[in-house]
Amino acid sequence: MRIVVSGAAGFIGSHFCDRLLAEGHTVVGLDNYLTGAASNLAHLADEPRFRFVRQDITEPFTVDGSVDAVVNMASPASPKDYLDHPIETLDVGSTGTRRMLDLAREKGARFLLTSTSECYGDPEVHPQPETYWGRVNPVGPRSCYDESKRFAEALTMACHREHGLATNIARIFNTYGPRMKLDDGRVVPAFLGQALDGAPLTVFGDGSQTRSFCYVSDLVDGLYRLMLSGERFPVNLGNPHEMTILEFAERIRRLTGSHSAIEFRPLPEDDPRQRCPDISKARALLGWEPRVQLEEGLRRTVEHFRRAAGIAIT
Ligand SMILES: NC(=O)c1ccc[n+]([C@@H]2O[C@H](COP(=O)([O-])OP(=O)(O)OC[C@H]3O[C@@H](n4cnc5c(N)ncnc54)[C@H](O)[C@@H]3O)[C@@H](O)[C@H]2O)c1
Repeated sequence: MRIVVSGAAGFIGSHFCDRLLAEGHTVVGLDNYLTGAASNLAHLADEPRFRFVRQDITEPFTVDGSVDAVVNMASPASPKDYLDHPIETLDVGSTGTRRMLDLAREKGARFLLTSTSECYGDPEVHPQPETYWGRVNPVGPRSCYDESKRFAEALTMACHREHGLATNIARIFNTYGPRMKLDDGRVVPAFLGQALDGAPLTVFGDGSQTRSFCYVSDLVDGLYRLMLSGERFPVNLGNPHEMTILEFAERIRRLTGSHSAIEFRPLPEDDPRQRCPDISKARALLGWEPRVQLEEGLRRTVEHFRRAAGIAIT
């Protein structure tokens, strides 16, 4: 297949391009580098089946030739990034998604949207199944991301219903791995960076809020299976193994051999108390579930950060 991927220079986008190429597909990657980096795609410089186009997908654009699938991953994704770029986040979820859907329609291609567990907001149902409609504050600081993704989901479903477009929607839960930015504010790089520096691990609130963490190769496998499926409604992709942030901080200290202290900070506004996917649907429909254990995934991520830090120093 020839596949267009927006957000290709991002953390998940670059891994997804790698997977598509490994499966024998041809990929056109689009990105404006708002939160991504050229270095995430540097290893593909000599890959003849990969082409990169620097493109803001909220602006008009065309792609030459036939296209079999359009994958829309472009969006700031870490709280730090979307709080720094709230308007761009709303624009890419609305206008950007519209342009990617139009491209899919023009080319007669299938379409995959990467949505988010943030659609569930601060949930009263736990773990969250796809049938739960969520509890999102529509005017809070995080609403630029949550509502952008909810709009993108609604637009995707409307294009499916109105034009018969073959669409898929992935609701991604916290994912981690190599190529995350150390300073993007998400808990995995934040704790790892602090532990490797011997700085205190900053825990927001009392650390009893829960999260679950999916290693990027597992997530990418779920996305790939979903893209080939006939499921039109959202599918959760994430790791159902839940832990408190405090437990997670302990795991990071053990893994890195760090003696960092734990420092408590006030909880940010609208920070969800609990976050854990119900992945029954992905299991039944896609035969998918995460395989990489947390220790192993963290080890690979630490290796990446150590290498990246070494390269930055020399
Ligand atoms: N990482 C996670 O845990 C997670 C969780 C839920 C959902 N997601 C979703 O997965 C996708 C990828 O997330 P990520 O973690 O790789 O984030 P990322 O910030 O690393 O990647 C996003 C990419 O989109 C690009 N981009 C942003 N606006 C653009 C625009 N207007 N035109 C072209 N490119 C643009 C950025 O430059 C960046 O390369 C996003 O849609 C995100 O909402 C990620």
